[in-house]
Amino acid sequence: MCGIIGYNGFRDADIVILNGLKKLEYRGYDSAGIAIIDKKQQVYKEIGEIKNLEEKLPKIKGTIGIGHTRWATTGGVTKNNAHPHLSTSGKIAIVHNGIIENYVKLRENLEKKGFKFVSQTDSEIIANLIEDNYKGNLKDAVFSAIKKLEGYYAIVVTCEDEPDKIIGARLQSPLVIGVGDNENFLASDIPAFLKYTNRVIYLNEAEICVLTKKDVKVYNKDEKVVDKKENVIDWNIQDAEKSGFPHFMLKEIYDQPDTVNQVLRGRISEIHRNINFNENVENLLNSNISSIQIVACGTSYYAGLIGKYIIEKFTDTPVFVEFASEYRYFGLKHESSLVIAITQSGETLDTLAALREAKNSGCKTLVITNVVGSTATRISDAYILMQSGPEIGVAATKTFTSQIIVLLLIALKLGMIKNKISAVQLYEYIRYLREIPRTVRDVLNKNNEILDIAKQLKNAESVFFIGRGVNYPLSLEGALKLKEISYIHAEGFAAGELKHGPFALLTKSTPVVVIATKDATYDKILANIGEVKARGSQVIAIAEIDDTEIEKHADFVLRVPGGSGVLPSIPIIVVLQLLAYHVADLRKCSIDKPRNLAKSVTVE
Ligand code: G6P
Repeated sequence: MCGIIGYNGFRDADIVILNGLKKLEYRGYDSAGIAIIDKKQQVYKEIGEIKNLEEKLPKIKGTIGIGHTRWATTGGVTKNNAHPHLSTSGKIAIVHNGIIENYVKLRENLEKKGFKFVSQTDSEIIANLIEDNYKGNLKDAVFSAIKKLEGYYAIVVTCEDEPDKIIGARLQSPLVIGVGDNENFLASDIPAFLKYTNRVIYLNEAEICVLTKKDVKVYNKDEKVVDKKENVIDWNIQDAEKSGFPHFMLKEIYDQPDTVNQVLRGRISEIHRNINFNENVENLLNSNISSIQIVACGTSYYAGLIGKYIIEKFTDTPVFVEFASEYRYFGLKHESSLVIAITQSGETLDTLAALREAKNSGCKTLVITNVVGSTATRISDAYILMQSGPEIGVAATKTFTSQIIVLLLIALKLGMIKNKISAVQLYEYIRYLREIPRTVRDVLNKNNEILDIAKQLKNAESVFFIGRGVNYPLSLEGALKLKEISYIHAEGFAAGELKHGPFALLTKSTPVVVIATKDATYDKILANIGEVKARGSQVIAIAEIDDTEIEKHADFVLRVPGGSGVLPSIPIIVVLQLLAYHVADLRKCSIDKPRNLAKSVTVE
């Protein structure tokens, strides 16, 4: 995820663009840049937060320009990789948000034609591709260029030879037009220009727009002009940063259909029936691995526990999951084992220490993280990026689902390598993966139903979450989410363990959330529900859509799309996240910044 902006008007473009970028910083902040046309393209970039750029930026004249704040995916965090990117002649400048999957091939072709590249990004090819197609009309060149792109993008383009216009185009990445008087704006998100105008035009998939100071024209993919409706936004700036959601956590829960797509992008191929990682990761997975140790903290640790069930199921390779804070001092370190560190931030001190211990002991190390350039990516032999964009809410949501999907991809890849999964089976799983964004949307559509259940929980002093198999770590995460943000005491248990102690705590006023999917232990979990009910506790079941039995046992049922084995896990997580969110909201808690907690814990 990155933030992009374009301005064409009468104000100083440097000021408008810097203001806009600050409002988009939540979309990425590892580097930022600006390109303003003052006869020639004037480009300035800096690594780090936007204030670094602001401090070093000289005053630039000019009332037309573009800007970018980056969350790196392809190419590390360097000044050259920061946007805007210029074409080889220096005349065309672009900013891009998205991923161009065929950039290597396009770059090779352009290099053969003499185009020069200075970055490792996929984005830079767009500038040269537009230049390659430029015959005196920027709009036509953009149309020709984007036909060659595979992947997804929002781009904003300017050209020295046509200093009266900016052009925007989008496919699956956000881009909104802000309409002013004698000025027009383009941005990834409305807050970037809300200070200047609240009139917006939404661009649909594959549309292109041309903005002069006075005029906005939108074209569909067949290059025909389309009539667009202006919308008036009545949000204040704070609401707008959260896209109108009251909290970042809720926004991030609702981001998940997109973040699931992003973590899958470029990694699954139905045609070749394969899972693709970068070369370093593939080399690691192809090496002789006797066992896997997963190290992590907090929610990432629970993702690791889910990973254990998934990887063992698909590969028969033993997987051990340890808290990073324990592993670093007490964990066994075998040279033949692969140590996978899971860390959203890539900066959690305990996880970094565990990773260093593993590395120093000769283990192979792989990191799953959301932050390119983070310390974890620099310590490990290889890393896999979640590509989920920054997560602002302290309680992890969208990055948790992305972690699980990465673990599922690792499991499938290893299963193929070890001949435990056939191409036909892989194809079936890939089809399921493609369906996940839809199943997540189905759960999001049940928001009001989940809110009703939250009302049942809001005054509880203690809540139990129980499940078997992969539903056990899901229960742990469900309990963690609830306790983190609502401050209600909550515990997750393996359902079979209730009778070995936790029953002593169970009273009529302890609601029990039971995750009951139709796996081999379904009858056992029904028996557990019976045990709980016998003690007078209320049971809230999360069950599959086609489960006709569950209603006879539970007091309330929340339905999720079904599937065998680990497959319903992602929609179940979304139910648990919404449940915790609504309970916390009903209790008026500080949802995005819970007391005593930090997003990234860089102390021991
Ligand atoms: C903190 C956060 C948790 C997070 C944990 C691990 O405790 O509050 O939400 O799960 O750190 O963070 P990491 O960035 O390593 O995944």
